[in-house]
Amino acid sequence: MVVTTFDPSKTSSRAEGVASPQPAPDNVDFDIFDADFVRDPFPTFADLRARCPVAHTDNWGGQWMPTRYDDIEAIARDADHFSSVTVSVTGPKPGEGPLFIGPPVTLDPPLHGPVRRLLLPAFGPKVVERLLPITQDIARDLVRAIADRGGDKADAAVDYAQHLPVRVICGLIGIPVEEEARFTDWVVRILKIGATQPEVLSTAARELREYFAEQIDQHRSDPSPPDDLITYLVNAEVDGEPVERKHMIGILYVLLMAGIDTTWSSLGSSLWHLATHPEDRERLVAEPELVPTAVEELLRLYAPATMARIVTEDVEVDGRQLCPGERVLLPFPAANRDPAYFDRPEEPVIDRAVNRHATFGLGVHRCLGSNLARMELQVGIEEWLKAFPSFRLDDDAEVLWTGGQVRGPSSVPLILER
Ligand code: HEM
Repeated sequence: MVVTTFDPSKTSSRAEGVASPQPAPDNVDFDIFDADFVRDPFPTFADLRARCPVAHTDNWGGQWMPTRYDDIEAIARDADHFSSVTVSVTGPKPGEGPLFIGPPVTLDPPLHGPVRRLLLPAFGPKVVERLLPITQDIARDLVRAIADRGGDKADAAVDYAQHLPVRVICGLIGIPVEEEARFTDWVVRILKIGATQPEVLSTAARELREYFAEQIDQHRSDPSPPDDLITYLVNAEVDGEPVERKHMIGILYVLLMAGIDTTWSSLGSSLWHLATHPEDRERLVAEPELVPTAVEELLRLYAPATMARIVTEDVEVDGRQLCPGERVLLPFPAANRDPAYFDRPEEPVIDRAVNRHATFGLGVHRCLGSNLARMELQVGIEEWLKAFPSFRLDDDAEVLWTGGQVRGPSSVPLILER
């Protein structure tokens, strides 16, 4: 299995003097790590969409940011001009330093297909079904621990949302749940701190790869329990060949990065929403059958993931000329608020009938774990509301948000009204 089709020798850059045919209007610069943007990016998305729908900044090594659904979808579906060789929103571009290799997300067609097909059974309905009671138990343990602690305060992110997906992924992959704290630490150092501090990222990434290498060797010598993902990969074949160890490590690494922070951010944003929109919370408590459609709406409103692509050939998007080697963001949260695509996009409608949001991506890389994530969110909200039907933000404490590749609240301090 080869891991990249991208040819860095083809790259050029805007610094070499390639002009855009349509100059950007003034004052449209953006910084995806700016504290105001991280807290609430939606006014910026709306402003850019109206004034400069394909904006460019020199921040973070240069980034293009389309904000219309159609442009984001066209780029996500066009692997000929936009490579996934790196999907990070910051960090080295091809030719600038080592790139994170994580199949299938960093593979372009035709190499992407076989790895995706290899993983499809690992995320099928049977797996989600197997993980449902496990997820319910995890959620119930977490709310019980909060209730047993007594008092009227809890942090929906720190005490709840940040634990559930890590424990579920441990069950999926085949790692003891006692490893939760180590996994969380790796995710935070790689995705949060590592986004702006590359040396933190590379140390944590090395540790995680070494850990997975050990786990693979252990599962090889003792292939039980039989239904976890590491055992599945150890026994799987691609084109009649066993999966190489380094590729298994890459796949496991991606699953951890893709499946934890995204889901805990979505769950944290959902509970933040219910704390700040009592009418939606009360309706869900009274009509729990609405939880699945509410989950879709909360996923649309607070899509956590922004991915990136690297331009491989000169290409025009909405009148702007993009050059080989440049980085383009795919801000799915912006696509989800496009009024050309959604009726009343800024408004929460928890029983929205048509909701073709882009939260799980668009095109060949569309999220493999979307059904698992939906199940986790439904269970996470149901069990929370059963235990704590009434709650609001604690005005004496601050809601904290983190952003970049994955946006969500890192702290949602609440008053539980019993
Ligand atoms: C709310 C939770 C989640 C969100 C918002 C989310 C979002 C996304 C997005 C936007 C992509 C597209 C990447 C791209 O276009 O470059 C993606 C891909 C992917 N996701 Fe998720 N994800 C979530 C949960 C999960 C979970 C729980 C798992 C697995 C444990 C997972 C595994 C993957 C994998 C393997 C890919 C790569 C698919 C491919 O390249 O073919 N995701 N996800």
